[in-house]
Amino acid sequence: MFGTKKKTPQIDKEQLELIKNAQKRIKQKKSLYTHFILFLIGSVALIIANLGLHIGETYKPLGKDWFIFIVGFWLLILIYHAFNVFVINRFMGPTWQQHQLDKLVAKQKEGIEKLKTKLPDNEPAIVPAIEKKKLSKKQNLTLIVAASENNAIGKDNQLIWHLRDDLQRFKSLTSGHCIIMGRKTFESFPKPLPNRTHIVVTNQQNYKVPHGVIVVHNMEDALDAALEDKHPYVIGGGEIYKQALPFADKIELTRVHEAFEADTHFPELNLNEWREIQNIYHPKDEQNDYAFSFLTYERI
Ligand SMILES: NC(=O)c1ccc[n+]([C@@H]2O[C@H](COP(=O)([O-])OP(=O)(O)OC[C@H]3O[C@@H](n4cnc5c(N)ncnc54)[C@H](OP(=O)(O)O)[C@@H]3O)[C@@H](O)[C@H]2O)c1
Repeated sequence: MFGTKKKTPQIDKEQLELIKNAQKRIKQKKSLYTHFILFLIGSVALIIANLGLHIGETYKPLGKDWFIFIVGFWLLILIYHAFNVFVINRFMGPTWQQHQLDKLVAKQKEGIEKLKTKLPDNEPAIVPAIEKKKLSKKQNLTLIVAASENNAIGKDNQLIWHLRDDLQRFKSLTSGHCIIMGRKTFESFPKPLPNRTHIVVTNQQNYKVPHGVIVVHNMEDALDAALEDKHPYVIGGGEIYKQALPFADKIELTRVHEAFEADTHFPELNLNEWREIQNIYHPKDEQNDYAFSFLTYERI
């Protein structure tokens, strides 16, 4: 299905990351500027209320006009906000966080290696709990998702964009397979998708579903329910992606080359754990509102 699509060179990831960070910084500075304007207007209003309109004129805590305390407290909050924007977010942004994470992972790996050397030869090597679970399941679990540059995936329990080719790819990949989803994603469909076994995760014990849809109450049971399928898919939404990510072997990510405001996001991928094995760029056209790339990741 991709044979007819025009392939263009892969978008520079570092550039995208820089754009993403710049957009985030602009947003932070805008919110600080708005806060500053509100502070100015609010302070003037309080001063007029107290000194001009004589509201609470007789109330003088510690012998001072009351507006001084409110304006002073607000100023402290504004300074804290500015400190966050110019110091904490600037020097402890995503690069710093990634660096800390890499350090932690390296330390953990070192610890595991040390433990391995202490084990007697006939003991099995230590396998992290999640990996053990994954191996015992013998499933090739894939997360399939469309996420924007800022990892937005949905708003008001709906998708944010219309990408016909992405929907077609979703259909062709998932048809004939088990699809695991959260209750909210299930409810975002007008009716169950044809030719797929729906496994819906919910806490509701008496959740009613159409015939053929499987209801489970945790992620483990969802994976168990899909055991017969050699290639089940997790199709969202945000909550379920987050919980399923440690069990996934593969991610089919449609990266939509735009940033969106959203209420649901795909978790940030740790690229030390994932290897990109395919990247197909698709430009915007009449059927697809935005340019996007089909990215396939495999667990390293
Ligand atoms: N862009 C994409 O590729 C994509 C794909 C799918 C969905 N989406 C979007 O994502 C949004 C929905 O995502 P969401 O995060 O709000 O909801 P969700 O993950 O679809 O569903 C959340 C619900 O699942 C149930 N649940 C989650 N974890 C559970 C657990 N461990 N045990 C039992 N039940 C559990 C709970 O249901 P109960 O309240 O019933 O207990 C919870 O409210 C929508 O906007 C949708 O359009 C986007």
